[in-house]
Formats: sequence, C-alpha cells, structure tokens
Amino acid sequence: MEQTPNLAGPPLTPRTAVVWSVLRAELDRRSTAELTVLDVGGGTGGFAVPLAQAGHRVTVVDASPDALAALSRRAAEAGVADRVRAVQGDGDALAGLVEPASVDLVLCHAVLEVVDDPVPVVAALAGALRPGGAASVLVAGRSAAVLGRAMNGHLDVAAALAADPDGTAGPRDTLRRRFDAEGAAALLTAAGLTVEEIHGVRVLADLLPAAVADGQPAALVELERTLAARPPWRDVAAQLHLFARRPA
Ligand SMILES: C[S@@+](CC[C@H](N)C(=O)[O-])C[C@H]1O[C@@H](n2cnc3c(N)ncnc32)[C@H](O)[C@@H]1O
Repeated sequence: MEQTPNLAGPPLTPRTAVVWSVLRAELDRRSTAELTVLDVGGGTGGFAVPLAQAGHRVTVVDASPDALAALSRRAAEAGVADRVRAVQGDGDALAGLVEPASVDLVLCHAVLEVVDDPVPVVAALAGALRPGGAASVLVAGRSAAVLGRAMNGHLDVAAALAADPDGTAGPRDTLRRRFDAEGAAALLTAAGLTVEEIHGVRVLADLLPAAVADGQPAALVELERTLAARPPWRDVAAQLHLFARRPA
C-alpha cells in the first residue's frame, strides 16, 4: 500500500485513503508552508490531528462539546495540543469565530448532510478561505444509499430515497439530504468556489462481504483509489469528495 510520507496518523482505509491522497497533493504543492487549516464539523479530530502532526495549525469548529473534548484529548496524546484549537460553534457562523479570508485549507467532512441548510455553511467556508485557498468537502452520496437499501431488501426505502428531491427516506432518516456529484458541485460553485476534483469514497467498501473487506484490506484500498475518479464508479460511492478552490 502506498504510504503518506508527510502525514503521521492512522493507517489508510477505504474511508480515508482517497481523501488523504487529494489532501497530500495540496500539502505537497505548498510543502514549505505551515498552513492555517479550518475543520468545520471536525468532530474528534480524525483529520485535524494528523494535519497538526504534519506541522500545520488547525482550528476545529464543531457544535458538539463532547466531540471537542475528545479532540482535545486526542491532540494532547499526540503531542500537538499547541497546534489544535477547539472552538464550539455553528458552521454557518464562522465569520464570528475565524478571521475572514484567513484560512489556507478548509475541511468540511460529513457535515453538509446533517445541517439545517448547507447553503450558508458553504458560504461561510468560502468566506473563511484566503484567495487561492482550498476546500475539502465530503458529502453523503445519494445513489449509494438507494443501492444499499435495495440490496438489503428495503425496496420501499430505496424507492423513497430515489424519489425524494433531497435524497432522504423521510422523517426517520438520520441524514437531512444526500448529494449527487452535480448537485454538490453546484452548491460549491454558487459560493464562488472552483471545483477542481471530484472523487468517490467507498465505492465498494460498503458493498463487500466483511470477509472480503477485512481479508484483503490493502487490495481494497488500492481498488478504491483506482475507481475513485472514474464515473460511473465515482458516482455510486457512499461519499463524494469535492476539492475546490477560492479563485486567487
Ligand atoms: C458525522 S460527524 C463528522 C465528523 C468528521 N468531520 C468526520 O468526517 O469524521 C458530523 C460532525 O458535525 C458536527 N456538526 C453538526 N452540525 C453542525 C453545525 N451546524 N455546525 C458545526 N458542526 C456541526 C457534529 O457535532 C459532528 O461532530
């Protein structure tokens, strides 16, 4: 398996490998700089802590005090507490928490599908970025949810998901919306960002029997990487990763 040379942190998995590949390219491109990173809805720091270990300064804004407490413990254990700032707050109110146009790299992973309205959150992300800064946005994929429900025998739920304009299965759904690549890209473009890359994350991982996924982890990561950028595989992934930039 290919290693991530300038990023300490957990081993690469189908959940993280493609995103780290894209982030690593951006970090390598700016290899001399200590970057200012903002992770919106960063939770317990699965990305924030490795980025701090790689020498960058990371602010995590999250609505959950429990998640932030876990983040602070994790950062302390990793010896990077001085490079990780935990801020409780809302993703659509970043202007009061982070200096506008001050951030080199903003992460917003698995958040836009749970917030009340993704439009002000994306506007806030774009406003936090310096000109030339980049955004890493990970969202739940709609097609994968339809396929997954159908393959588990829940054809009624699959039909509801396919028909619903927001890609949810109704009020008991844990997510408020799901995205296709075009819809997610349009959301970022409308906020003034230029979408540079779109990848699928977990094209196969959630569909395989556990014995296959657990038995051949390196081969699975490699295959996920191979398929990630290629429609139609990209478009049936459990998550879609968009890498976008605020024009310089
Ligand atoms: C599914 S978790 C994702 C965590 C992390 N980004 C990841 O990919 O592992 C969603 C996170 O978003 C946070 N969150 C939800 N709504 C938010 C909001 N309006 N503003 C800021 N954070 C929010 C939650 O507290 C939670 O930590």
